[in-house]
Amino acid sequence: MIKAHEYQPQTIKQAYNRRGWIYSKTVAPMEWEYHLEALEQANLQPGEKVLEVAVGPGLTAVEIARRVGKEAVFSGMDISTSMLALTEQRLRSSGFSQFVLKEGSATQIPYSSNTFDVLYNGYMLDLIPEEEMPGILAEFKRLLKPGGRMILLNMSKADQETVLFRERLYQFLPPKLVLYLMGGCRPVLMEDLTLRAGFHQVRRTYLGGKAPSEIVTAMNPASEN
Ligand SMILES: C[S@@+](CC[C@H](N)C(=O)[O-])C[C@H]1O[C@@H](n2cnc3c(N)ncnc32)[C@H](O)[C@@H]1O
Repeated sequence: MIKAHEYQPQTIKQAYNRRGWIYSKTVAPMEWEYHLEALEQANLQPGEKVLEVAVGPGLTAVEIARRVGKEAVFSGMDISTSMLALTEQRLRSSGFSQFVLKEGSATQIPYSSNTFDVLYNGYMLDLIPEEEMPGILAEFKRLLKPGGRMILLNMSKADQETVLFRERLYQFLPPKLVLYLMGGCRPVLMEDLTLRAGFHQVRRTYLGGKAPSEIVTAMNPASEN
């Protein structure tokens, strides 16, 4: 993994507040098929309690809400106020009213421990510095019930040795441009970090194509909560 720029949370929040609408019209549709595959692997069941961390413009929130059904309460969070507003709008216009959305950072998620059957997080860890990832994965683990499932979807590459043009661009452009043009994201490899965070049944699927990505699924061990 290449070294990430260390943006202040306020800088990320501001950038995603500004680019929320355009993101929902450009990048989000391009990544949609990757989300659909990740959601298939999540194997969501009616009534399950799901938390989506970094809801973005809410496309996945609606799809998750559809899959768990109207009896379940969908929970989401994001650092960006505008993204949360877009998610709320999208959920309401799709006919959902049973949801809770909270603003906050993935480093300290404003939900109680041991609460969720499934935690879903798409295209957020790829903008987080590697040193901060263990803390965030520990937060994800705290929120899951024993036996709960975690699904991570991120920009990635086939293996550690591969060097993508996108990585060169990330390193070449000024950090501010990387944030506004590339969303601050670079390819990441989350399998080892997930294992080291104490998750079980860790499985990685690499998906090539126009937005090379990886899905990492894992289970919170039943005995450790
Ligand atoms: C690339 S977008 C992905 C959005 C959505 N998950 C999707 O796949 O369409 C990154 C999202 O992560 C959010 N984000 C960035 N850093 C965050 C953090 N530390 N905590 C919570 N959300 C964060 C941004 O506000 C933005 O909505």
